[in-house]
Amino acid sequence: MNWIKEMPVIRCLVLLLIACFGFLDRIQAVTLEVKVGNSTCIKAELSALLSITYTTSNSTSNVSISLPDSTSVDAGSSSCGTDGRPPWLVAVFGSGHALGLSFSTNGSFYNVTDLTLQYNLSDTLLFPEANGSGVVTVMSTSVGIWAPINTTYRCASPTTIRAGGAAVTFSEMRLEAYMPGNDLSPAESVCAADQTTTAAPPTSASTTVRTTTAAPGPTPPGTPQTGTFSVRNGSGDVCLLAKMGLQLNVSYVSQSQNKTVQELFNMNPNLTAPSGSCGSSTATLVITQQATTLSFTFSMNLTTSQYHLSGINLLANWSDMSAPFSASNSSLDYLPSKLGHSYMCNTEQTLLVVPDFSINTFRLQVQPFGVTAGQFSAAEECQLDQDQMLIPIIVGAALAGLVLIVLIAYLIGRKRSHAGYQTI
Ligand SMILES: *[C@@H]1O[C@H](CO)[C@@H](O)[C@H](O)[C@H]1NC(C)=O
Ligand SMILES: *[C@@H]1O[C@H](CO)[C@@H](O)[C@H](O)[C@H]1NC(C)=O
Ligand SMILES: *[C@@H]1O[C@H](CO)[C@@H](O)[C@H](O)[C@H]1NC(C)=O
Ligand SMILES: *[C@@H]1O[C@H](CO)[C@@H](O)[C@H](O)[C@H]1NC(C)=O
Ligand SMILES: *[C@@H]1O[C@H](CO)[C@@H](O)[C@H](O)[C@H]1NC(C)=O
Ligand SMILES: *[C@@H]1O[C@H](CO)[C@@H](O)[C@H](O)[C@H]1NC(C)=O
Ligand SMILES: *[C@@H]1O[C@H](CO)[C@@H](O)[C@H](O)[C@H]1NC(C)=O
Ligand SMILES: *[C@@H]1O[C@H](CO)[C@@H](O)[C@H](O)[C@H]1NC(C)=O
Ligand SMILES: *[C@@H]1O[C@H](CO)[C@@H](O)[C@H](O)[C@H]1NC(C)=O
Ligand SMILES: *[C@@H]1O[C@H](CO)[C@@H](O)[C@H](O)[C@H]1NC(C)=O
Ligand SMILES: *[C@@H]1O[C@H](CO)[C@@H](O)[C@H](O)[C@H]1NC(C)=O
Ligand SMILES: *[C@@H]1O[C@H](CO)[C@@H](O)[C@H](O)[C@H]1NC(C)=O
Repeated sequence: MNWIKEMPVIRCLVLLLIACFGFLDRIQAVTLEVKVGNSTCIKAELSALLSITYTTSNSTSNVSISLPDSTSVDAGSSSCGTDGRPPWLVAVFGSGHALGLSFSTNGSFYNVTDLTLQYNLSDTLLFPEANGSGVVTVMSTSVGIWAPINTTYRCASPTTIRAGGAAVTFSEMRLEAYMPGNDLSPAESVCAADQTTTAAPPTSASTTVRTTTAAPGPTPPGTPQTGTFSVRNGSGDVCLLAKMGLQLNVSYVSQSQNKTVQELFNMNPNLTAPSGSCGSSTATLVITQQATTLSFTFSMNLTTSQYHLSGINLLANWSDMSAPFSASNSSLDYLPSKLGHSYMCNTEQTLLVVPDFSINTFRLQVQPFGVTAGQFSAAEECQLDQDQMLIPIIVGAALAGLVLIVLIAYLIGRKRSHAGYQTI
């Protein structure tokens, strides 16, 4: 019945799901192996996020997907380098997409010589409204992944490799070629990015910015600055609008102190980049600030036209963390409002996500659905604000009551005294 009407909804949901896998589940890892007979020559355990820019009939679109669980090694194209070709790992996924790494060695070191990405624009699920079709191949020869022979290359930090209009971001990577055994060598060669994460805060454009954002310190940060975040839909209209100050409250194991510490971290809107997606029943807002990625998922009940904040996800890789922090909860029920309205809460509110992570919001107003002309619609105010507003009303009413009582008492008193004169 409503199937036809809901097709775009379904597509949005699928895209959202893909986006979620891309953004949120960066932990999702695949294991890939190239073998000859019984012996393994290349093995990789990694997560990869692919961001591809492609042209649509009118403009350009970006799509982000992570290498799915179902990714497999294409034995036909992959090679151990025994047949005159260089060792080559080719991973295939979806309908006609592939990611390839080729290797070379000089006897003491091995090196990823190039990275190849093939994507199939005819896959309309991934590339809706693409102006072209067929398989596009892009390549990069400056990959920067190398290690001594007989060691495993390890890099937990995200590493981005650009190729044509695409970017491949590897993280949680362990990889070895020219393997002496069938398993990754226990000796590891740790990438430069992992070695410096404790020494320096994530790179930032200028030193002035760096001073304001040096990794969260132990001093209480005060109230966060209010930022405005918006997401645009396919035709460039603002479809999700949020204004708020965000303070993250995270408990994690500190590397320097070797114990669990609790950190309050203010998001600085000057340094954040919002992104996300809109649909008729789900919308997401992703706020990225250097090594911190925070995402909000809003859900709309299409029957009642009521919406709420249903999911929060945090990925953080702060300099003092002993391991990247990841937390998510997708069964939340915060910030309820209804279609055609925004939700507002000026009072500080605490959104508990998991025991280790909560968010304090300040001066918040959000509208994830039905934004028109880039403006908030009439606000539904939270109970806390209404209570706050009640206090001056109660005080005012009490004062008015007091004035009234005094006045009445005075009038009665005057009348009595008049009466008194008359009896004399
Ligand atoms: C692979 O392993 C099996 C069982 O372990 C063995 O029977 C077979 O001969 C091996 N093949 C090669 C090419 O080594
Ligand atoms: C796609 O991504 C590129 C680089 O990240 C950015 O410059 C461009 O504005 C994005 N385009 C769209 C339509 O989001
Ligand atoms: C590209 O995708 C289309 C549609 O999904 C499919 O029919 C085609 O076989 C794919 N191309 C390759 C080379 O797999
Ligand atoms: C192999 O390459 C590394 C890194 O470029 C270099 O340090 C080393 O000397 C080279 N070894 C040989 C045998 O050429
Ligand atoms: C790895 O290969 C690239 C491209 O061939 C080359 O520029 C680079 O110097 C090599 N690095 C090492 C360490 O061998
Ligand atoms: C779309 O494709 C057609 C034919 O290939 C081409 O002429 C046109 O310039 C393309 N449009 C854009 C925006 O790339
Ligand atoms: C790597 O390990 C294999 C087997 O343990 C050994 O034969 C080879 O000499 C080693 N290569 C280097 C460069 O250490
Ligand atoms: C984007 O939002 C505007 C305003 O809500 C709407 O008119 C337009 O159809 C939307 N475009 C897409 C591609 O969803
Ligand atoms: C593409 O551009 C034309 C003319 O500029 C416009 O009428 C049409 O709505 C646009 N289509 C989309 C999907 O944005
Ligand atoms: C951290 O603490 C644990 C137990 O509290 C201890 O076993 C471990 O050796 C400590 N590590 C460092 C680097 O101090
Ligand atoms: C953000 O930028 C504004 C204007 O450029 C500046 O006034 C403000 O202090 C900055 N906030 C932070 C926290 O750096
Ligand atoms: C929408 O709300 C109605 C009434 O509260 C409820 O019965 C229904 O399960 C909800 N639908 C969804 C998809 O949550």
